[in-house]
Amino acid sequence: MSSVPVITVDGPSGVGKGTLSKRLVERLGFNFLDSGAIYRALAWGLLHEGHSPDDEAAVVQLARHLPVRFQDGRIWYEDEDISEAIRTEQVAGVASKVAAIPAVREALLQRQRDFARPPGLVADGRDMGTVVFPGAQVKLFLDASPEVRAERRHKQLKEKGMDANIDKIVREIRERDARDRNRAVAPLVPADDAVVIDTSDLSIDEVVERACEVIRARGIDC
Ligand code: C5P
Repeated sequence: MSSVPVITVDGPSGVGKGTLSKRLVERLGFNFLDSGAIYRALAWGLLHEGHSPDDEAAVVQLARHLPVRFQDGRIWYEDEDISEAIRTEQVAGVASKVAAIPAVREALLQRQRDFARPPGLVADGRDMGTVVFPGAQVKLFLDASPEVRAERRHKQLKEKGMDANIDKIVREIRERDARDRNRAVAPLVPADDAVVIDTSDLSIDEVVERACEVIRARGIDC
């Protein structure tokens, strides 16, 4: 187990991981790893550089030398701010496709572990508790039905002024879920020692409270 406290927050897309993670980061003053953003940056880079996501050699090559930086809450690809550009469903779809390639996951592993610095880390993703930080002090796994998640994503996209069709979002969420849950490497499953929180009928404040109870029980102030 690493000496830096790590809290992992895993679960499917649109379940509220990002919102919970950011709230925990504010409360605890920990560092934050948005691992999905790394896979999204890879997908964005492939699209930007005109590589097909099916060209495995090119995908792995880019994953090994991914020019992505996280700075002051923004995400940079070389000298381009891609914080908003990576939030489209197109980028998410490509991300989940290339995330199924074992050599890609391997190439991005150490980069994610390097985020575990004092005073602690909140790590948001799919395999944070199972693969990247198996020794984490606290492992949370959020879940909710695809319909509830699609509804939330729809609201988020509309708030950002982005075009959104609810039926299409449900379909895309189901497809992405199936790919994330059924892949051979690092599939989306709760770690054996994870606490599962179903967020379907909970407000964000209730989810934060429930998470903090678990965190406090592991001896970390929350
Ligand atoms: O969390 P987010 O929706 O940004 O992730 C985009 C995609 O990246 C996911 O659908 C998943 O396929 C992939 N991903 C992953 N492992 C992680 C985080 C994200 O495979 N730890």
